[in-house]
Amino acid sequence: MTDMSQSSSTKHTAGTLQQLKGTKPIPMLTAYTTPIARCLEQAGIPVILVGDSVGMVEMGLESTRQVTLTHMAYHIGAVRRGAPNTHIVGDLPLDSDRDPDTALASAERLLAAGADSVKLEGPKSEVIGALVGRGIAVVGHCGLTPQTAADFKQVGRDADEAERVAREAGEIAAAGAFMLVLEHVPDTLAERITASLAIPTIGIGAGPSCDGQVLVINDVLGLGEKWPPFSRQYAYLGKAVTEAAQAFVRQVTERSF
Ligand code: KIV
Repeated sequence: MTDMSQSSSTKHTAGTLQQLKGTKPIPMLTAYTTPIARCLEQAGIPVILVGDSVGMVEMGLESTRQVTLTHMAYHIGAVRRGAPNTHIVGDLPLDSDRDPDTALASAERLLAAGADSVKLEGPKSEVIGALVGRGIAVVGHCGLTPQTAADFKQVGRDADEAERVAREAGEIAAAGAFMLVLEHVPDTLAERITASLAIPTIGIGAGPSCDGQVLVINDVLGLGEKWPPFSRQYAYLGKAVTEAAQAFVRQVTERSF
């Protein structure tokens, strides 16, 4: 097991995570609940993302667009109680970062709930600059940005689109983000962006050249009905839960409880 925890009682800061670029690949997983967060901390995961993917994978919503700040604060609190010593990135939901003042109030709410930094989608340089100027650590996110994307197709396949994504990545870094999620872009584009930036890139469906990799925990654990093509499954907990419930039904039916 790669032990990337700073120590049993010191969690990573934005600065120590940034320093991992070029030294160690950064494993990041999402979490939404206390027991899963506890497991991830015990496994030595250095950074947990409480993503707005919670809407789709835990709340049964159609997309991340229905997720609110109240939902995010609730789940960040749950994750913090399970992982007191792990750096937590809290996702700013759609529109909660629409302008610098709104983003500042939203970010403060997520920090108060237990986040160490916030993530936001797209090249919102002014917003990122305002947050960083107030001492709030920001993770950027470009490539496929689910809050505004029309579909879940790979982004950056043709030359113009690749240029746009590379330019946006540069803008996000220049605005002061300390890390950048690159979602569902070609491996070659991720490699080029990773080489061009001083901050770590964390890929999801972006190949092995990024400085780290993030996956949605429900995909990793096999707790969904479908999985994105780029997500490996490391367990099949959906099946285990169904089988456990079936065994319980059998025992109760047979009065052997
Ligand atoms: O919300 C989320 O889980 C994310 C990851 C897919 C990067 O943004």
